[in-house]
Amino acid sequence: MDVEVVVRPPDELARWFVADLEREIRAALSDPGRKRPFTLAVPGGSVAEAFFPLLATAAIDWSRVAVFWVDERAVPPASPESNYGLAERLWLGPASVPASSVHRMEAEAADIGRAAEDYAAELEEAAGSPPVLDYVLLGVGTDGHVASVFPGARVDPSSESATWTDHAPKPPSRRMTLSLRTLSRARRVVVAAFDASKRTVMRAALEDPAAETPVAQVLRMAANGVVLLVDEAGP
Ligand code: 6PG
Repeated sequence: MDVEVVVRPPDELARWFVADLEREIRAALSDPGRKRPFTLAVPGGSVAEAFFPLLATAAIDWSRVAVFWVDERAVPPASPESNYGLAERLWLGPASVPASSVHRMEAEAADIGRAAEDYAAELEEAAGSPPVLDYVLLGVGTDGHVASVFPGARVDPSSESATWTDHAPKPPSRRMTLSLRTLSRARRVVVAAFDASKRTVMRAALEDPAAETPVAQVLRMAANGVVLLVDEAGP
């Protein structure tokens, strides 16, 4: 397991993330032979709320970045529950990120299985097949879920790049998600776990080799290691 732990107060973690992403994007896009956009996948939840306002001020050419989501709830984009909607309010709108750079998960589609297949194809077009995202940002639930892969989930984490569930224990129960395998294959995986409520599950993920929570699996499977961002109350 290759995990670098960064411990800072929450506002400094946001600054760390934005500086790290700026650096990664600059390095990747300075390669003159590069044809593909820089591919980034982001979560919803408290990490999005904490990081996106600062991300909106970042020195990044968003026309050269393809923004994907790690997961989405089965609600329309205007819903206060929508991960895309949150990003739009806090970051995409204020930073005028071009619509052509934004790859929203249509988790509200009547045929969510078909929408997940379409999303997998969209991701593969930008990030190759199987997809290798340049940068994945993840939050963690107190039960150790990441994206919308929950402990004991009925989604098969290994079969498809993007999949869905009707049984998420965190409402709403219907969600689309990238698989653990796709998340773990990324060139850079940054996991943010703020707050004392996440300490127990993160300790187990770091210290117990038998831990089976989704976050523990990502820490073990990550092809290029993980950076774990915690505030002072963290593990
Ligand atoms: C979502 C998020 C999800 C989130 C975790 C942690 O749709 O809910 O993308 O994966 O990162 O549930 O949420 P909190 O950070 O709000 O605890």
